[in-house]
Amino acid sequence: MSWSNHEHLEKNALLLLVLVIVVISIGGIVEIIPLFRKETVIEPVTGMRPYTPLELAGQNIYIRENCMACHSQQIRPLRDEVVRYGHYSLAAESMYDHPFLWGSKRTGPDLARVGGKYSDEWHKAHLVEPRDLVPESIMPSYSFLLKRGAKLHDLDKHLATLKTLGVPYTDEMIENAEKDAIAQAHGEARSEIGGLQERYGEKVNARDFDGQPNIISEMDALIAYLQVLGTMVDFNAIKDVEDIGETGGAE
Ligand code: HEC
Repeated sequence: MSWSNHEHLEKNALLLLVLVIVVISIGGIVEIIPLFRKETVIEPVTGMRPYTPLELAGQNIYIRENCMACHSQQIRPLRDEVVRYGHYSLAAESMYDHPFLWGSKRTGPDLARVGGKYSDEWHKAHLVEPRDLVPESIMPSYSFLLKRGAKLHDLDKHLATLKTLGVPYTDEMIENAEKDAIAQAHGEARSEIGGLQERYGEKVNARDFDGQPNIISEMDALIAYLQVLGTMVDFNAIKDVEDIGETGGAE
């Protein structure tokens, strides 16, 4: 472009604006488009599996009750967080969350690795009346979850929908959704859990989470969900990630 053309451009504010937008968009597109392909941004880790139907029912209750208004599920790679909550969250750990529940506010603690931290009885007692366990707690009581039956009959549809979003549920998982949810809440004592373990792995928690054998309550589903959070990836097996985890990556 000759000098006179450039002068013309600089004096024409509208044309200059349009061309500036064009140039910036090219840079933007080059940076942003690859991020829409999650394979390019999420490092694969072993151990990740889709939620079982019962855990998914629990996640639905978590969303319905808006627990994310007070709880995040995202441990940042900073020393204080890693010391308090454990290994910082990996992108792969929330790749099957639709919607993701990272949250933006911590009135209560982060829950990304709460799985296995407490017993089922602790969670039940805490959800029924948080102040029985933590006297200064401002968390609301969710005792009604004990009396409400968990909605299991339409979980197959939920799995099928998640499959369209790329969650690797198989046809067999979808067909057996309700059966697997019941087996997981009954546990070995009262159900055949072989199929459930075949589909979701040996490590899957299968037991009566709420201590009420006569009902599969919303409490069962919610505790099943809380108990799996952050437990799928075995960090001892991923040495190089663990190294950053120990220093908090913040040095
Ligand atoms: C008004 C804010 C608020 C809401 C809503 C809320 N919580 Fe909490 N939660 C807290 C606070 C504050 C604590 C810390 C004190 C305590 O343990 O009770 C807490 C603690 C917890 C803990 C213990 C975490 C730990 O590591 O010790 C769990 C588990 C938990 N909440 C689950 C839930 C679930 C599940 C829901 C939704 C059904 C929920 N909370 C809704 C405020 C909230």
